[in-house]
Amino acid sequence: MKVIVVGTGTIGAAVRSTLVAQGHEVVSVGRTSGDHQADITDMARLRALFAEVAGSGPFDAVANAAGDVFPAPLEQATDQQWADSVAAKGMGQINLVRAALPHIADRGSFTLVSGVLTDEFTAAATIGATVNHMVEGFVKASATELPRGLRINCVSPTVLTESVAYHPHFPGFTPVPADEVALAYLRAIANPITGRILKLHKTDN
Ligand SMILES: NC(=O)c1ccc[n+]([C@@H]2O[C@H](COP(=O)([O-])OP(=O)(O)OC[C@H]3O[C@@H](n4cnc5c(N)ncnc54)[C@H](OP(=O)(O)O)[C@@H]3O)[C@@H](O)[C@H]2O)c1
Repeated sequence: MKVIVVGTGTIGAAVRSTLVAQGHEVVSVGRTSGDHQADITDMARLRALFAEVAGSGPFDAVANAAGDVFPAPLEQATDQQWADSVAAKGMGQINLVRAALPHIADRGSFTLVSGVLTDEFTAAATIGATVNHMVEGFVKASATELPRGLRINCVSPTVLTESVAYHPHFPGFTPVPADEVALAYLRAIANPITGRILKLHKTDN
């Protein structure tokens, strides 16, 4: 399969390696990194990106591992922090799907990313939880509407082993290695599932 992996960071790099090890072709996209550059908050650029990539041969999957959230305690959170979080991790991912839709091959798949904050609340988690619910809601609803046998799923990682700077913000959570998160992406891409949220939480065991 030819897979467009958006995000070249901790999760994106692991997804890329896992897919390549399975014999898939990966086209990577970052804001400033990757084979192609695009900001997922820029719909015009996303439309041009997918036309560009499809121009060199059809693609079968889009896997996203990009989209920032700007957390803050509820009472202190600014309009900008809310708007930027919704624009990046929320609408950024939704627009990836909308922009790729005219170009992706029949029976192709989309894999988006949410996170443990959908289900488990830490201090100052409200913005992250709200945006994750937006993404997961989009995935579940759009799975019923996608044409041409297209599928959509969401990977929901807990805090990553590699993201040590986040560990103090997730007391009592069991981190998950990026390689394990990448396997969930592979599961979403390579199996005939749709509308699923693949959770890697180990917090409620
Ligand atoms: N790390 C965790 O513990 C964790 C846990 C649960 C969920 N998540 C979610 O997983 C996703 C990826 O996390 P990560 O830790 O792998 O992030 P990361 O290491 O910070 O990497 C983020 C990647 O996304 C790209 N990116 C960021 N904003 C972008 C934009 N507006 N347009 C295009 N590309 C953009 C960056 O590109 P450039 O470098 O080129 O700017 C970078 O390649 C995020 O949505 C995060 O919320 C992460």
